[in-house]
Amino acid sequence: MPAADPIVLAISGASAQPLAQRALQLLLEAGETVEVVTSKGAIGVWQAELGIRVPLEPRAQEAFWRDRTEMASGHLRCHRWNDQSVGIASGSFRTKGMVILPASMGTVGRIASGVALDLVERAADVHLKECRPLVICPRETPWNLIHLRNLTTLAEAGARIAPPVPAWYHQPQSIEDMVDFLVIRVFDVLGYDLGNLNRWQGALGRPNSAQADQAE
Ligand SMILES: Cc1cc2nc3c(=O)[nH]c(=O)nc-3n(C[C@H](O)[C@H](O)[C@H](O)COP(=O)(O)O)c2cc1C
Repeated sequence: MPAADPIVLAISGASAQPLAQRALQLLLEAGETVEVVTSKGAIGVWQAELGIRVPLEPRAQEAFWRDRTEMASGHLRCHRWNDQSVGIASGSFRTKGMVILPASMGTVGRIASGVALDLVERAADVHLKECRPLVICPRETPWNLIHLRNLTTLAEAGARIAPPVPAWYHQPQSIEDMVDFLVIRVFDVLGYDLGNLNRWQGALGRPNSAQADQAE
């Protein structure tokens, strides 16, 4: 019996790195096998925003993510940002799909134009050509026309565009609640159910709905 196919989590250099960390934590907690590739841009954002140096070397990076996520479960394989000799760079390597969280506009633009300079772009290109699920979570605001056109091109090529946009209907009480909502909704696209989300059940499912009716 073959082992379950892995999921690819690509982390590029946009300003939403806590979403990537939480996604990895939830996937490992769920016992998934996760292939992680962190772009050079993402490593720069960790340094600029948090003063944290993410190791380039795969084994050291695996230890880094295990430590950050405090997760010993699941299987984790990290790849160097520019190593195009690894499994996920080939269509013959089976995966469940790939999520780019967050996706920088640079990464979006290069994938949209078929330029596979680093491993994130090559693995995304592979997922598109193999017609496997590719979920792209762009983080930038506002979007210019080039961003919009690139995202449209990717949607036309088969990618799902899932920007991490918050909602309030699940009644978040903390930033952690908001982060969980964003991450869980991204993985909903691939059919995962990664956590206890206060999902919308209709207005009648709200705790205060009966009182609200009486007050009217
Ligand atoms: C602190 C910081 C935050 C950034 N945030 C974003 C962002 O939210 N979205 C974006 O598209 N680029 C952002 N950038 C710029 C990208 O990191 C930069 O274009 C980088 O070359 C992208 O590389 P990558 O696409 O290979 O990850 C940010 C850069 C820094 C240093």
